[in-house]
Amino acid sequence: MDHVAPLANRSSRIGGFHKKSPQERLDLVAAFADLTPEAVAKLSDFGNLGADLADRMIENVVGTMNVPIGIATNVKVDGEDVLVPMATEESSVVAAVCNAARQNYEAGFTTSVSGNLMIAQVQAVEVRDPHAARIRILERREEIRALCDGCDPVLVRFGGGFRDLEVRVLDTLGGPMVITHLIVDTRDAMGANAVNTMAETLAPHIAAWSGGRVYLRILSNLADRRLARAHATWRVEEIGGEGVRDGIVSAYHFAEADPYRAATHNKGIMNGISAVVLATGNDTRAIEAGAHAYASRSGRYTSLTRYEVDADGHLSGSIELPLAVGLIGGATKIHPTAQACLKILGVTSAERLARIIAAVGLAQNFSALKALATTGIQKGHMALHAQNIAMMAGAVGEEIERVARILVERGSVRTDLAQSALEEIRRA
Ligand code: MEV
Repeated sequence: MDHVAPLANRSSRIGGFHKKSPQERLDLVAAFADLTPEAVAKLSDFGNLGADLADRMIENVVGTMNVPIGIATNVKVDGEDVLVPMATEESSVVAAVCNAARQNYEAGFTTSVSGNLMIAQVQAVEVRDPHAARIRILERREEIRALCDGCDPVLVRFGGGFRDLEVRVLDTLGGPMVITHLIVDTRDAMGANAVNTMAETLAPHIAAWSGGRVYLRILSNLADRRLARAHATWRVEEIGGEGVRDGIVSAYHFAEADPYRAATHNKGIMNGISAVVLATGNDTRAIEAGAHAYASRSGRYTSLTRYEVDADGHLSGSIELPLAVGLIGGATKIHPTAQACLKILGVTSAERLARIIAAVGLAQNFSALKALATTGIQKGHMALHAQNIAMMAGAVGEEIERVARILVERGSVRTDLAQSALEEIRRA
């Protein structure tokens, strides 16, 4: 496409934008933002998703955002070797999982889940007798089961459906609310659509039974009936001795005690977890929200992992967090990359996917803590980071590796130094 002349009037009010094709929208955006033809060409490369599919996934599509997928090797989960695709823009994340898993490859990770249960909430307000209303709703359990299961016969056929009912009276700034929880087995689906439909179907009944007014009907991302757990033992001689082991345990104690540290500690865990969630087309924000809410369940935000020294002096690590991931629904089924990643993982159930992801979270955290407690994080980051900086300084092709090597040798990864290194190479 030729360079489109910038718009005289840069208004974001563009009538009918949603009805246009991705290319037509991109032309308008290019004019608005004065994009170069190169930038337009990059944006309009839809990769393996294709413009049609992308345009169906979200609104007002103009392009796609490619993120590299790396494979974590050495990972063994419940006795089975697995190659783990990870989609992330951050260097060292994939290497961290490979390294942690190499150091406990023989034993690997042992995992479990608490179930596939999702929670949907129905909010009733202005209830005159909230405690009695709670009991009236609980009495309707079988009726509620039938209504919920009637929403999704396919889910029921696959062994899922309504499982339980909870009703809470919640004290709020706006007075007491009656909050109904529908607890639903969503099998291999993440389950958002299924449980949201159930909550919406049930809403008028809850309004009638409670005598109140129903507002919100939506799932909870605090999926604490869908926990995934993993544990692993790192032999003390494999990880560099007692000093390293104790440094990792102390790092955990720090995160356990301090929300400032726990936020970063858990961010590292999510580096691993979100990368697999994204690679498999699952909802990264749902998983992040659930993880951080779970980390706060005691009222104080804390670590999602724990580290102890076992009876033989080895390092015993564990993790537990909600992992509402699915194999069907959302982008998992329609994104060709997600389908390929699920095939690489060899998973045939959402439960197995959640278990692997929990193991990845623990592996990621082990490596981060080990690096932090010993050499520091920058050393490991250095090599790939140096390549990024080399590219930012204008290095291309073989120059990238050469500039990066010079930066690492000189022990300082800065754009100005990369520029002078590049000039040196080009002069030579
Ligand atoms: C960086 O993305 C993640 C770490 O900060 C995690 C941690 O501090 O545990 C290295």
